[in-house]
Amino acid sequence: DRPLRVALLGCGVVGTEVARRLTRDADELAQRVGAPLELVGIAVRNLDTPRDLDVPAELFTDDAAALVRRGDLDIVVEVVGGIEPAGDLIRAALEHGASVVTANKALLADQGADLFEAADKAQRDLSFEAAIAGAIPIVRPLRESLAGDRIRRVLGIVNGTTNYILDQMTTLGQTFDEALAEAQRLGYAEADPTADVEGHDAAAKAALLAGLAFHTHLTLDDVHCEGITSVTADAVQSAAEMGSVVKLLAICEQIDTPDGPAVGARVHPAMVPLSHPLASVRGAYNAVFVESEAAGELMFYGPGAGGAPTASAVLGDIVSAARNRASDVFGPGETSHADVRLLPIGSA
Ligand code: HSE
Repeated sequence: DRPLRVALLGCGVVGTEVARRLTRDADELAQRVGAPLELVGIAVRNLDTPRDLDVPAELFTDDAAALVRRGDLDIVVEVVGGIEPAGDLIRAALEHGASVVTANKALLADQGADLFEAADKAQRDLSFEAAIAGAIPIVRPLRESLAGDRIRRVLGIVNGTTNYILDQMTTLGQTFDEALAEAQRLGYAEADPTADVEGHDAAAKAALLAGLAFHTHLTLDDVHCEGITSVTADAVQSAAEMGSVVKLLAICEQIDTPDGPAVGARVHPAMVPLSHPLASVRGAYNAVFVESEAAGELMFYGPGAGGAPTASAVLGDIVSAARNRASDVFGPGETSHADVRLLPIGSA
C-alpha cells in the first residue's frame, strides 16, 4: 500500500508530541491504517530553535505556505494556533488535495463555516477532535454517536488552565498568580494565557460544542464570555462553605420558543454543587456533561490540556483521515444545516 504523506504545521508542545509518536509508533499506526504514515515535513517558525525530537533535520522548513502547496500531501496537521496564517494554510492544504487535522479552536470559532465549506468542496476531511477538551472524545460522539438524538444542554469544563487554577486555589490555597505560573510551566496554558483566564478559549470551544450539539454554526461573538480573573480566594472559600465549588462552565442550550428552537452559549464562573459530577473534575482535567432526550445524561471526562493528551486526539484524527484517504472517501463532512435561531448573547 502506498504510504500516506503527512505534514505537520507547528512544533510546539503538541506538535512535538505528535511527531514523536508518529515516528516511534510507525509500525503500529501502519497496521491500524492499512498503509504506512510518512512524516514528510514539519513547518516551524524558527529553524534554529533546539528540539528534543529524533527526526531527520531536512524535514524542517520555515516555509509553511510552500509545504501545504506541495500537491502530494495526504494529511496536513495544523497545530500552529492563532487565526492567521493558520486559516490560509488550511484552505491551501484542502485546495491542494490534503485532508486537514486541526486543534485550532480559535480559528474554527472564527471561520468554521467557511473552512468546512472548503473541505466539502475539496471532498476532504477537516477533523478537530483535539480542538475541544484535549484528549476527551467529544467531537465524534456529538457528530456521530448522538446524531440521532435530541440534545438539550451541554455543560462543559473545557479549559484545563482555569480548572487547574481554581482547583489549586480551592484545595491548596494558592494565589491566582502562583497557580497560573504552575499551569504555564506544566504546558496547559495558551501561548498568551489571557485567552485562558479571560474565558476566550472556553468560549471558542463553547461555540464549537453548541454548533455540534445543535447542528448550527456559532462564532466566538455569539458566546457571552466572562473569565476567572475576578474570582477571589474569598469567593472560592465561600463556595466551599456552601457545599459548592467554583468552576468555569461553558453552557450551551437549546430552548423551544413559539418561533421554533433557539440556541445560546455562554461561559462564566459558576457555583457547582458538590453533588454534581462536574464538581469532581480536578486539576487540568476537563469534562463535558451532555443532557439529551433519549440518551439522558452522559459525561465525557479526561485530560483536557497538555502535549501527550492533545496529541492522542490529533493522532486519532490522523488515523481516521488516513484510512479515508487510503480508500478515497471522506466524511461525515458538514453536518450543520439546521435552521436554528441564536438567542441574544447571554440570555440562554
Ligand atoms: N489552554 C488550553 C487549556 C489548552 O488550558 O485547556 C487546551 O485547549
